[in-house]
Amino acid sequence: MEIKSSNESIATVEADAVVVGVYRGQLTAAADEIDRENGGVISRLLELEEFKPDVGKVLPLYFPTGCKSPIALVAGLGERDQWNRGTAYRALGTATRWLTDRKRRSLAIAADPAWTVAQLEGGVAGAVAGCHGPGLYQAEAKRFQPEQLLWLGTSDDSLSSGRIIADGVVLTRRLVNEPPSTIYPETFAEQATAVANATGMGCEVWDEQQLANERCGSLLAVARGSSRPPRLVILNYQGGDKNVAPLALVGKGVTFDSGGLSLKPSDGMLAMKCDMAGAATVLGAMQAIAQLKLPVNVIGLMGLVENMPSASAYKLGDVLTARNGKTIEVHNTDAEGRLVLADVLCVAVDRGAERIIDLATLTGACMVALGNDVAGVMTNDQAWCDTVMSSSQSCGEPLWQLPMFAEYGEQIRSSVADIKNVGEGRWGGAITAAKLLEEFVDKKPWAHLDIAGPAFLEKPKPWSDVGGSGIYVQTLVEVARSL
Ligand code: BES
Ligand code: MN
Ligand code: ZN
Repeated sequence: MEIKSSNESIATVEADAVVVGVYRGQLTAAADEIDRENGGVISRLLELEEFKPDVGKVLPLYFPTGCKSPIALVAGLGERDQWNRGTAYRALGTATRWLTDRKRRSLAIAADPAWTVAQLEGGVAGAVAGCHGPGLYQAEAKRFQPEQLLWLGTSDDSLSSGRIIADGVVLTRRLVNEPPSTIYPETFAEQATAVANATGMGCEVWDEQQLANERCGSLLAVARGSSRPPRLVILNYQGGDKNVAPLALVGKGVTFDSGGLSLKPSDGMLAMKCDMAGAATVLGAMQAIAQLKLPVNVIGLMGLVENMPSASAYKLGDVLTARNGKTIEVHNTDAEGRLVLADVLCVAVDRGAERIIDLATLTGACMVALGNDVAGVMTNDQAWCDTVMSSSQSCGEPLWQLPMFAEYGEQIRSSVADIKNVGEGRWGGAITAAKLLEEFVDKKPWAHLDIAGPAFLEKPKPWSDVGGSGIYVQTLVEVARSL
């Protein structure tokens, strides 16, 4: 799909559809033009409240006068003073999702000249994401990417960062949507290697032997039940001064989570190809950060395993030794993500990271606490957490903080080993999981994002098909920009 600016106007552009925006109580210049040429049809529909210009709402006008395109899609933009990057993502995603239900060769979107580059970035990312669905393997496609996405009223320069960020979001979504027989640790690592080669990032892939040499006993235990060998990918982007400590982005990459011997019921297993969404988010963000050539140092670490039951699987009661020497007693093999991340966080620390963000589809408990639309964030350093939260806020990718009271750490004490891998009972499960992770960050500023809810949509949104959501790629890019 080609994404480019066009000098044409709403009147002259020859596209299969044009998108024009309407705020509450205010038409954009492009919408106003269509309105005036067509006897005030938009203003009259607004007056009658036949169309409410909220984000997530669209209204098609067919064969509008003064326009060479057969459809003008009026997109709701919501309140003008609440317009931001996040609403831009959603409003334009809704428009392209509406227009890509059948083959249309070219779509033109009228950008409001008042939009900032950040808002345009969000809009481009949303518009591109809206063109992509989960039907990677359908004989008859249900979503059709246009050949061209034309942007009126802006320049190729202003579009370039949006295009890069959109590519990152689409990469993350595609990886999450691929089936587990296609994306497993080795193939995920190949995808990461390809991204590194294309963008000039450093890339290390640790295989089983190297993971053993590097004392990653906790990650290796989870991998043991599977015929698919594990991998650890370490991407290194150096855009800043050599002496500046890197930001570490750490992702949970469980390419399929059956639960292991603590086997999940079938219903709970169905969506578990999404359990590598943390790693996919890190990869999407690393690609964008490298392509944007940000003047910062970032390492991206992805712990890749498949969690399976078998004769060789790790068992309840096993005691694992993680890379930093701490011992972990296994009480539930379905609490595997924290065991994978334990070792990967140690590697991040050993690589000199002075700031860490991890992303993981870690607990169902976080979904019980917060629902599907927001990730939980937990931290050992409030200032760092505030930085991450303000970046997420500015992207319209919400985070909600959960407390890290010391009492919750007591729950993971073990009578056999240093710690055990679950708390006492189900309550506060998102926090007890984070408390385990905290044991492996060596007191470095760290924020843990439990993305179990928003990483994978079971129901569509107006701006997004079901499946991988690609959420938090933009947040990570914004954090890297804020350093
Ligand atoms: N991958 C799951 C968490 C999950 C659940 C992600 C639903 C997305 C949707 C994780 O590995 C897991 O199984 N967690 C257990 C922990 C429990 C055994 C302490 C859970 O949440 O039930
Ligand atoms: Mn699990
Ligand atoms: Zn899991």
